[in-house]
Amino acid sequence: MGVKDQIDLQRLPEHIAVIMDGNGRWAKERGKLRIFGHHNGVISVRDVIEGACDIGLKYITLYTFSTENWNRPKLEVIAIMELMVTTINKEIKNFMEKNVRLRAIGDLSMLPDKAYRELQKAIETTSGNTGLVMTLALSYSSKREILRAVKLVAEQVKNGDLSIDDINEETFEKNLYTSGMPDPELLIRTGGEHRISNYLLWQIAYAELYFTTKLWPDFRKEDLFEAILDYQKRERRFGLTSEQVN
Ligand code: IPE
Ligand code: IPE
Ligand code: MG
Repeated sequence: MGVKDQIDLQRLPEHIAVIMDGNGRWAKERGKLRIFGHHNGVISVRDVIEGACDIGLKYITLYTFSTENWNRPKLEVIAIMELMVTTINKEIKNFMEKNVRLRAIGDLSMLPDKAYRELQKAIETTSGNTGLVMTLALSYSSKREILRAVKLVAEQVKNGDLSIDDINEETFEKNLYTSGMPDPELLIRTGGEHRISNYLLWQIAYAELYFTTKLWPDFRKEDLFEAILDYQKRERRFGLTSEQVN
């Protein structure tokens, strides 16, 4: 029986978040420039999205570029932005065929104009799709997202639209980029590092964490299925005792 057939489709996580790490090392191992790794990482994205669609996953959120990544060598940043534009352009047809809806979270105003325009075009084109919601975290920083939400809430209080007593998890979350999306139940990080790197800090409060040493360009849908299987073997207790949960 293949890994995919072992997955209990009734108990799928609704939302999987992925930190796609290891592109640079993958390229270096092959004596190539880092951007070669990013190019090959696109193949992994395509395959993983196909796998997510195959099993009927509802949400996948991919860490594509952090605000900290802007500080990388200029040539790498430019190459990543260009890769994004060409990839999104090429993939729109595929998204339409697969009923995938593209979204983006992060400080998109920092993107170069062309990348921003192409991204918005793809988001609009796919906005009516009802299958997998694929969210790109782009120019994303979780701390900044939370601070932005704090400011929005403060503004509402100042304007008299919200009372301090009504600030709770639910009203606060409405001000995050991820408003309306369920929190990820599973977070996958490739590339062997055991850290969160400023990703979805609020949203992963109770996510199951899955780390693999596989570098992102080597990651395929079968690896996604492995991670889901691992997730399904865990007992999520949310602070209760094992007896209470069972
Ligand atoms: C992840 O791979 C992609 C981005 C951060 C844009 P890296 O580029 O971080 O690859 P490593 O971690 O240096 O190998
Ligand atoms: C996290 O990877 C960001 C993305 C995958 C886009 P990094 O390579 O930037 O993270 P660190 O520097 O290892 O924490
Ligand atoms: Mg990295």
